Amino acid sequence: MEFIQWDPALSINIEEIDNQHRGLIEIINTLNASAEVPNRHVICFEIVMKLKNYFNEHFMTEEKYMMRYNYPEIVAHKKEHVEFIKNILDFELACVEFYSPFSPMLDFLKEWLVKHVAGTDMKMGTFLKEKMEPL
Ligand SMILES: [Fe+2]
Repeated sequence: MEFIQWDPALSINIEEIDNQHRGLIEIINTLNASAEVPNRHVICFEIVMKLKNYFNEHFMTEEKYMMRYNYPEIVAHKKEHVEFIKNILDFELACVEFYSPFSPMLDFLKEWLVKHVAGTDMKMGTFLKEKMEPL
């Protein structure tokens, strides 16, 4: 079984963003699957690089939507994105440690899905949906 599975409860009902969140879950599962391989410090760098690129693009997508629809909580939301990237950069440094475990990063990413995606992004999604498809 995968470390994390897509759960409809994570859907914020904006297709482009949901698809990106699905892609993120895939990367997290790859990271989990690589936790025990012998050359995992090399893989660690590769995956952190992937995460950085993917998240940068993903955050830009969300911020584009928030700007387009004048989301009132854009500043606080963007702050969470900045914090997230900072954490990923710390994990990148930890990759240098040959035997550094992946578990802190995996725990962090899992928690991010629960708190940020199911909380902060969900709130944004509800607002955007209303703006995009007014009743
Ligand atoms: Fe977000």
